[in-house]
Amino acid sequence: MSTLKAVRGTRDLLPPETALWNRVEATVRAVFARYGFGEIRTPVFEDTQLFVRGVGEETDVVSKEMYTWEDRARAASEKAQSLTLRPENTAGVVRAYIEHKLGDTGMLQKLYYIGPQFRRERPQRGRYRQFWQIGAEVLGPQSSGAESALRDAEVLEMLATMLDELGIPRASAANGETGWRLALNSVGSSTDRPQYLAALKAALEPVKAALCEDCQRRAETNPLRVLDCKVPEDQATIDGLPKIAEFLDAASTEHFAQVRAALDACGIPYRIEPRLVRGLDYYTRTTFEFTAVSGLGTQNALLGGGRYDGLSEMLGGPKAPGIGFAIGEDRLILTLQALAAAAEVQQGAEELDIYIAPLGVRQNAAALTLARELRGAGLSAEVGDGSFRVKKSFELADKLARRIVLLGEDEVASGVLTVKSFATGEQTKIPRAELIALCRAQG
Ligand code: HAM
Repeated sequence: MSTLKAVRGTRDLLPPETALWNRVEATVRAVFARYGFGEIRTPVFEDTQLFVRGVGEETDVVSKEMYTWEDRARAASEKAQSLTLRPENTAGVVRAYIEHKLGDTGMLQKLYYIGPQFRRERPQRGRYRQFWQIGAEVLGPQSSGAESALRDAEVLEMLATMLDELGIPRASAANGETGWRLALNSVGSSTDRPQYLAALKAALEPVKAALCEDCQRRAETNPLRVLDCKVPEDQATIDGLPKIAEFLDAASTEHFAQVRAALDACGIPYRIEPRLVRGLDYYTRTTFEFTAVSGLGTQNALLGGGRYDGLSEMLGGPKAPGIGFAIGEDRLILTLQALAAAAEVQQGAEELDIYIAPLGVRQNAAALTLARELRGAGLSAEVGDGSFRVKKSFELADKLARRIVLLGEDEVASGVLTVKSFATGEQTKIPRAELIALCRAQG
């Protein structure tokens, strides 16, 4: 019988690597808390229409990459429905915002999420069919200040802080290839975008026949998406198309200037990238991407985001301008692993405080009660098996823990234990009651 494997583009995350994932998540949760964000958890699958309407029918994500199926009705009272595994989380968060009438509070909503997303992309290093995002959305009624450039700058400043605290350096002359870089653009609003789209369409007309099939179609249906094209032969033509910056109206120009001024004031470096329109239809005004080269190869977009002032209305909700981002957690981990490898730092799991080795089956119960006591005191402990020999116990304990305690008949009877520290090689005899204090003192 052939053995079953994880599906292409999906993977198992195992210890000790999961310890790094947990450290990353603990760090970002702490940062989110300091910036006033609360966690939201939305379903992993949604009505297909949510993504068609929210993300956009002509985007690669919706037209090529979604996992969609017909969910059959199981009772006369149920309707068959087209469902989709979420390819991203912004649409789901905005749906929840509308469904739970969060706008009625009048307050700015600051929501974050950590969870798996699904896209049928061609798998490669840093690109998976099930991948994880750490994301956040800031949205609310206009009166809550959700549209203010201050929010854009705060989100970007928080991201810089997060990457700092995770230990990913900023790109500099010294570390060139390893640090993060921020690319920034403004893609205009519902008032100035139509002029740009008309100009783009007109400029595409004489050159589109030379472009790829997708671009030819998009030149008609959704010209902005032509700018996402990755086909190498098309790039020179696309670079010659009009730039959105030339079409921003006074309000969009002023908004973008305020975002940049706030970033300058915080000392956050960025580069204006006129072609950064991002592959999802909901974006308006500020768009951004952070890249990190280390460990990612060609998939160097560590995170992306932007403003989506019309998304709630596109989904049938009230006006609720917003801005958000999603970090590719898999890519964040790859970056951290590459940085640790370069610095020759071991990123394995934490060692346990103590390994308890019972020397016979009869000491198993005593070993377990000792472990229960130590764990209850907040120490980490592993219990060996009664069939282990002393030498084997020492070898295994050395791999797992900072010290070992042997439990033979004598130790159980006398209550005096022998503890060996692997760091110092020192062996100590102490009364059982002093074991916790000893572990704490030695660290
Ligand atoms: P996105 O640019 O499609 O934006 O994805 C954000 C990040 O998710 C990417 O920069 C990348 O790190 C990671 N990512 C995307 N696809 C994959 C994949 N197949 N494998 C591994 N990582 C991947 C969004 O999803 C928007 N919802 C972000 C946002 C939030 N905009 C506003 N609010």
